[in-house]
Amino acid sequence: MKIAIASDHIGYPLKEHIKEYLAPRGYEFIDVGTNSEERCNYPEFGKKAADLVAAGTCEFGILICGTGVGISLAANKVHGIRAVVCSEPYTARLCRQHNNANMIAFGARVIGSATAEMIVDEFFAAEFEGGRHQKRIDMIAAIENGEEL
Ligand code: RB5
Repeated sequence: MKIAIASDHIGYPLKEHIKEYLAPRGYEFIDVGTNSEERCNYPEFGKKAADLVAAGTCEFGILICGTGVGISLAANKVHGIRAVVCSEPYTARLCRQHNNANMIAFGARVIGSATAEMIVDEFFAAEFEGGRHQKRIDMIAAIENGEEL
């Protein structure tokens, strides 16, 4: 499975940790940066990763900044992106099962590396359940497309 991964300078060390954690488990990455702890702007990297997911180049994406909020806000401006900030594994599972999230975000200032591992484990193990949830995803897409609900 190919994953787009992005962070800002605050999230950079955790981005590297998550790649090291997931790579032996068979995940491939397109890492769009940032590539150091030098100060940068999270929207640039959130957009780059979101573009890869929206284009279908990557199936899913991982986003990391200080809180997970700024980089997910940027990613969610890309058409077709459903990026969710998670600080615990339960939301990581449910955002796949019910919300068909295609990007997961978390904050390097909020959670530690062990919790981040649990979050990505749950996110990638879960599957979208469809059914009644599909209608709601379609409604979100309608809002995105400027259609009436
Ligand atoms: C950077 O200082 C910080 O604002 C950023 O990492 C993130 O937390 C924004 O949401």
